[in-house]
Amino acid sequence: MNHTPAAGSRIIGLGHYQPERILTNAELSTMVDTSDEWITTRTGIKTRHIGSESDTVSTMAIEAGRAALADAGIDPSEVDQVLVASTSATDRTPYAAGRVAVALGLNGPAPIDINTACSGFEYAVALADQSIRTGSARTSLVIASEKISGLVDWTDRSTCVLIGDGAGAAVIQASDTPEIHPVEWGSVPELVNAVLVDGDPQRFSQEGRSIYRWAISEAEGHARQVVANAGLTLDDIRVLAFHQANLRIVEPIAKALDGEHKWVLKDVVESGNTSAASVPLGLSKAWHRGDLPEGVPALLMGFGGGFAFAGQVVTTPTRR
Ligand code: ACO
Repeated sequence: MNHTPAAGSRIIGLGHYQPERILTNAELSTMVDTSDEWITTRTGIKTRHIGSESDTVSTMAIEAGRAALADAGIDPSEVDQVLVASTSATDRTPYAAGRVAVALGLNGPAPIDINTACSGFEYAVALADQSIRTGSARTSLVIASEKISGLVDWTDRSTCVLIGDGAGAAVIQASDTPEIHPVEWGSVPELVNAVLVDGDPQRFSQEGRSIYRWAISEAEGHARQVVANAGLTLDDIRVLAFHQANLRIVEPIAKALDGEHKWVLKDVVESGNTSAASVPLGLSKAWHRGDLPEGVPALLMGFGGGFAFAGQVVTTPTRR
């Protein structure tokens, strides 16, 4: 598939999926030695959605992708690239992007799964934008889907209270005006083992304090570089959407970036940490509620396992 290279790309639709089951802090307190007070003060999390057996990374990606296509109002046959970011995908082949392409009746798009853990969505958005700018694609369906509940030890209070399941998606299309700006991405070698999914059965663990220290001291500088990459100033940014790991991380970074004058994503309170899905899931929920400011510059930034980070400025969609 070859197209004329486009000047840029933009987001034309958002969608999401969350499993029905909501797990509250009160219910968790009956499962492990914890309390609503500890979870709320340390993380801000109040609830999270937990997938049933029939919810898989692929099925949740399909539902989020379907919703994003409906929101964009385009014919599914226009999609020529599907990117699925996930760190909890279990299907080797057909893998999630291939399953999404078939389930949504797409017309033989390039299907690509990527895993950069919690920053997966921002990596996928950058790859979609670069594909469109080089003419390798014209319309990309970018999805992040996670079933982290299948990777936690439900007797370990230090991890099971933090996570949630769900998926978020964006349709990205060629545009004469670039609305997805150059990515700032990279990794932190000394933290490569700070987030692990390993063992048999595979289990999620993390060095919570090291990640917290990195986020508080380094994320702000990368976020400022994201804004500079877009040729904008911090005053131009109207929306801040950081990886939803912990409100105690999101709030100080937002404050350092003039967050009191911006719309700040805080979906971690309702959804917990959904790894790669956290930013698109939270943005799509806000968009469909009518809360997300329309057609304004938004700073996205993910960080976590790998230890990778990535961010870019995108323009939020506008209603048709
Ligand atoms: N309920 C009650 N007590 C608990 C719980 C719980 N759920 N979990 C741990 N504790 C206890 C510990 O046992 C410890 O007790 P002790 O002092 O008697 O030993 C005490 O609380 C403090 O434990 P810490 O782990 O040191 O708590 P901390 O204040 O560091 O908070 C947290 C932990 C919330 C994980 C924090 O470090 C954090 O958010 N870090 C950042 C994590 C992150 O951003 N990850 C993102 C990348 S990974 C990903 O997104 C998938």
